[in-house]
Amino acid sequence: MKKYLEKIRGVNKKLLELELVVSFQDILCTEEIAKVLNTSDLDTNLKKLNENLLIKRIRENGCYTIRNNSQELVGCIFMHKHIMGRIIVYERVTLWVARKYRGNGFGFLLMAKISAHYSNELIISISSEKKVFENNELLGMKHINLGVIPGLVLRSLQALGKIKNTDYRYYVNTSLFKWFKKMKELET
Ligand SMILES: CC(C)(COP(=O)(O)OP(=O)(O)OC[C@H]1O[C@@H](n2cnc3c(N)ncnc32)[C@H](O)[C@@H]1OP(=O)(O)O)[C@@H](O)C(=O)NCCC(=O)NCCS
Repeated sequence: MKKYLEKIRGVNKKLLELELVVSFQDILCTEEIAKVLNTSDLDTNLKKLNENLLIKRIRENGCYTIRNNSQELVGCIFMHKHIMGRIIVYERVTLWVARKYRGNGFGFLLMAKISAHYSNELIISISSEKKVFENNELLGMKHINLGVIPGLVLRSLQALGKIKNTDYRYYVNTSLFKWFKKMKELET
């Protein structure tokens, strides 16, 4: 918690310095969506997304944006809703920060903001990036192995193509961890 607060304090200071504003939005204009999706260095998962899917996700689940004092988009993050067995699970997806603003902790800030917004829901994070592991831990999420995941959910993850190689780690918030425990007990 101390580490998290220290980090957030530093990032907020930087936001003020650069006159940037973070807010929750349930719509982005198509030019902005195209700007995010057309960024040349997006990872392959992101490139596979199409505009319509992203618009649908934003309408359903909202997004967090960072804008400069000219209202230009300089960062964003989205949520994706999955139905897994009998539960609804949210996954943070499509994190993007404009090149010029990278390295100031804004990626972390967006992850923190959207996780807090959805704190009453069940959240999962699936990534192979060390930095994402560290950030998830700072956000109080728990690293779980596949054995902890109930069969019904595991099958949904498989169907969604979310069971990947061993470089990938699965982090869940406390609520989802408790659900998994309960569901596992019922399975045995
Ligand atoms: C990933 C990204 C959002 C990080 O933005 P940022 O504001 O620089 O993030 P932070 O300042 O909080 O963290 C900085 C470091 O953590 C890494 N990082 C943070 N979040 C990350 C993520 N989700 N995936 C991979 N790396 C991440 C950054 O690459 C950077 O590493 P470096 O110092 O070795 O260059 C930005 O580099 C970006 O938009 N990249 C292109 C899109 C992308 O790859 N998104 C991630 C997959 S959805």
